[in-house]
Amino acid sequence: MEVSDKILYMTANLPPTLTLTRPDDWHVHVRDGLMLTTVVPHTAERFGRAVIMPNLRPPVTTTQAATDYAARIMAAVPDGVQFVPLMTLYLTAHTPPDEVRRAQAAGIVAAKFYPAGATTHSDAGISDWRQITPTLAAMQKAGMPLLIHGEVTAVDVDIFDREAVFIDTELAPLRRAFPALPIVLEHITTRQAVQYVQEADWFLAATITAHHLLYNRNALFAGGLRPHCYCLPVLKRESHRLALLQAATGGCARFFFGSDSAPHLAKQKESDCACAGCYTANVAIEMLAQVFESANALHKLEAFASWNGADFYGLERNTDTLTLQRAPWTVPDHLPCGPDHIRPLCAGQTLDWRVHRPLDEPLAQTPSGLCCAKV
Ligand code: DOR
Ligand code: ZN
Repeated sequence: MEVSDKILYMTANLPPTLTLTRPDDWHVHVRDGLMLTTVVPHTAERFGRAVIMPNLRPPVTTTQAATDYAARIMAAVPDGVQFVPLMTLYLTAHTPPDEVRRAQAAGIVAAKFYPAGATTHSDAGISDWRQITPTLAAMQKAGMPLLIHGEVTAVDVDIFDREAVFIDTELAPLRRAFPALPIVLEHITTRQAVQYVQEADWFLAATITAHHLLYNRNALFAGGLRPHCYCLPVLKRESHRLALLQAATGGCARFFFGSDSAPHLAKQKESDCACAGCYTANVAIEMLAQVFESANALHKLEAFASWNGADFYGLERNTDTLTLQRAPWTVPDHLPCGPDHIRPLCAGQTLDWRVHRPLDEPLAQTPSGLCCAKV
């Protein structure tokens, strides 16, 4: 067979569409105000539910604030799109155990532990989890997951080691103190985290982002300094990326997708002191399809993106579906946000997969022509 025939043969054998149980995003930042109205449609059109991070200014520390925030998010969901924001509380040194009980009664799904100073808007976080032992005990009793940004903040710890050091010095003792507290180690980035979660029991899970699956730390310096690839925890070396990919595609149900899509205005990223955070809500599921396909693991995507998170949180899996179509598209450079704009990750690049929407042309080879909205 000629090389060109071989390529034609291979292309003809690639699946043209991929229909999944509608995925969820188990970790996303949608901010507030104008930014919220810009970004919520991207998440809501793709994902059935999303766990909403509470690091606003001021942070979402009470049940009332979380409920009000959920209403603002819902107001930004496009007509005809079904979407459920799963709200979280921001833990401070002053969060009382009673707040956990109120939150659970109001349907808030989890609470987030930001080590003070670890990342964007984390200054109201906790310098030592032992400060909130009664609150953690209330969470354990309620079975409410603790979501952790797992990095130490000590300046003498190298930034590339902060996650591994956190696991040894903070997470391990925390888990010994609260062995039945469900914990999600968020946006893991290292082989040490993969191994630690793999060896743990059912109470410990981890989210993995699309960008940590697709990129290693070289992306930060490709031809120059790339602020739009800068996030926390920072991208790590290739061996860590491969460990994450192995975890995401390997069938352990305690690894699931959390985009950590974290929008900042482009001017705040392209600055002397760039904010941490990659905006991926409009490209993440498409990026996932690309990287799973490159690992010959497209058939594992549904468990990672659509099943494992719901199972861990004790929620029903979604009953509707999302269809991805093999149709190369170029990611836009700019997403207007008032007079400013957001620059998404992969801007200007071509992705192989795109989301099929209800009003797109019919899908010749998909029986139901399914789409992301329940109608
Ligand atoms: O890169 C990040 N950006 N990591 C975080 O943990 C927070 C996020 C944000 O809120 O911008
Ligand atoms: Zn985050």
